[in-house]
Amino acid sequence: SQIQIAVVVGSIRKESFNRQFAEAFVKLAPQDVKFNFIRIDDLPLYDQDSDAAAPVPAVARLRDEIKAADAVLFFTPEYNRSVPGVLKNAIDQGSRPWGKSVWSGKSAAVLGVSVGAIGTAMAQQHLHNVLAYLNMPTLPGNEAFIQWKDGLVVNGEVGPASKEFAQNIMNNFIAWVKQTAKK
Ligand code: FNR
Repeated sequence: SQIQIAVVVGSIRKESFNRQFAEAFVKLAPQDVKFNFIRIDDLPLYDQDSDAAAPVPAVARLRDEIKAADAVLFFTPEYNRSVPGVLKNAIDQGSRPWGKSVWSGKSAAVLGVSVGAIGTAMAQQHLHNVLAYLNMPTLPGNEAFIQWKDGLVVNGEVGPASKEFAQNIMNNFIAWVKQTAKK
């Protein structure tokens, strides 16, 4: 059956390098894999007082879309050596009410693009910590600490210098999701 992957990009700016790379990266997947880019820019700030009431539409949509996915592909920028608040907010929104986390058991992979030479290594480390707590197994190996440079994305596709590297990660991710995914 078809594999559904939710893509969460931790930057909401229009020209986001992470979004540009994510959009190019998903083109490397086989045809039977469907990607759903998850909207996070309209989520309210997580407030524990809201757990008692029905979620607002944006939060309900986030939770439904993650529930429907077999796996989650995260692209995180690095802000001040961690994940951006907008990404953490989306993760927190999906993790509650207590006992109803939509993340639990979903297979995941973490990639990230930054303008700095360490290519989001520290943000990814923090994100892995969060995902471990949320019971999300992450693709072993296949680390991708990507520095934005001219030519990384060319006409919406991963550029020639990085194509083999990216294709290899995509192949490993899909093979691993097929083994591990459960809805
Ligand atoms: C950054 N940037 C950054 N880069 C990095 O490699 N390590 C860091 O700790 C930070 N910290 C940081 C904080 C804040 C508030 C901003 C706005 C930026 C630079 C960052 O890599 C750059 O803005 C990227 O372009 C962000 O990703 P998107 O939005 O292009 O996907």
